[in-house]
Amino acid sequence: MKNNISRKSFLRQGTALFGGALIAPYTSLTPFISESQREPIRMMYNENPYGPSRIAKKAMQKAFSESNLYTMRIARNEFTDLIADQNNVDSDHITIGFGSREILNKAAMMNGIDNGEMISPQLTFEAINQYAKKAMNTKVKRIAMRNDLHIDLEKMASSITKNTKMIYICNPNNPTGLALDSNELESFCKEVSKKIVVFIDEAYHEYAIGDGYNTMTHLIGADNKIIISRTASKVHGLAGLRVGYAISSPKVASRLKTYLNGSLNVVGLRAAIASYRDDKFQAFSIEKNNQARKIVTDHLDKRGIVYLPSHTNFIFLKTGMEIQKFQPAMKKHGVIVGRPFPPYTAWCRLSMAKPEEMKFFNQGLDKVLSV
Ligand SMILES: Cc1ncc(COP(=O)(O)O)c(C=O)c1O
Repeated sequence: MKNNISRKSFLRQGTALFGGALIAPYTSLTPFISESQREPIRMMYNENPYGPSRIAKKAMQKAFSESNLYTMRIARNEFTDLIADQNNVDSDHITIGFGSREILNKAAMMNGIDNGEMISPQLTFEAINQYAKKAMNTKVKRIAMRNDLHIDLEKMASSITKNTKMIYICNPNNPTGLALDSNELESFCKEVSKKIVVFIDEAYHEYAIGDGYNTMTHLIGADNKIIISRTASKVHGLAGLRVGYAISSPKVASRLKTYLNGSLNVVGLRAAIASYRDDKFQAFSIEKNNQARKIVTDHLDKRGIVYLPSHTNFIFLKTGMEIQKFQPAMKKHGVIVGRPFPPYTAWCRLSMAKPEEMKFFNQGLDKVLSV
C-alpha cells in the first residue's frame, strides 16, 4: 500500500533526514544480503562505486529525448568551454575524446605517423603502449622503475635518442598510485618538451589534488609539446559513457582532432557537463574513497603488509603471493581484485569500493594469506 511506510523505511528516512545531510543523497539503501548471496565486489577497475551522481543522471534522462539528433556537437562545444574555463585556458587548447583512451590512442597514432619511437615506464597504464606497438608498429622503450617503484625521470630523460618523439608519464601512476615530486616533474617537462612530446596522463587528478601532487596544466603554452589527458571515468563515475579530454597547445589540439573518431554521444557529454559542475558529488566521492583507503591501510599496517602511499582510488600492495593464485582465491571470498602487473606478480592492485565493503577485502585477505 502506498501510504504504508514500514518502521524500517521510516527509520532509514529519519537517518537520511537528520543523520547525514551531505552523505544521504548519494548512498543507496540496500537490503540485508547474506554473504553467499552477495555479488562479488568490483575492486579491479578503479571505478567510482557511487557514480554517476544524481545530477548527472538527471542530465542523462533529459538528454535521452535528444538522442535522435546530432546535438552532440553542441554538447561537445559546451563541455569544451567548461573544461577550458575550469583549467584557465582558451577553448582551442581542449580536445574531447571518446574516453581518455581515445586521446591516448590518437597521440600514439600521431607519434607513429611521425615515425617516432616512444619511451614509457616499465610499470604503468598499458593502453598507449599497446596501441603504439600493435596498431602503429612503434618501438616502445620501457624504463625500469626506481627501487621505490617511482617512475625514474632521470633514466627516462637519458634514454631519449634522436628517434624518440614521445614520452609517456602517468601521474599519479597506475598501478602504483604514486605521485611524482611536482618540482622534479615540472623541470623534466620543461626540458624534455623542448624536443619531443611529453604526454602526461592525469586520469586520477581529482583524487590526488592537494596531497603532494600537482597538475602540469600550467605548463601548457601557446606552442609547446605537452599533452595532458584527463577522464570523466574516475571521480565522476561515468566510465561506461566514454568521455575524456586533452589539454595541449592549440597547434597540437588541432592535429589531434584530425585523428578523432567523432563518435561522442550526447548522453555522455550532458552527464559530464553536469558532473564537472557538481562539486559536492566530487567531494563526497573523494571523502568516501579516503575512508575506504584508510580501512584497508589500517588493516595492512596491523598485518605488516607493504603497500605504496596511494594518491588515487586504488592501492598497490605486496601480498607476497603470486597474483595468479591470489586473484581466484580472493574471488572465492567475494572480492575481485586487479590483474597481474608483471614483473611485480607478488603485488596486487586493489580498487576502492564503498567503505562498508572494504571489510570483505580485509577478511578475505586474512583467510587467503593464512593458508
Ligand atoms: C591511467 C589511466 N589512464 C586512462 C584510463 C582510461 O580511461 P578512460 O575511461 O577515460 O578511457 C585509465 C583507466 O583505467 C587509467 O587508469
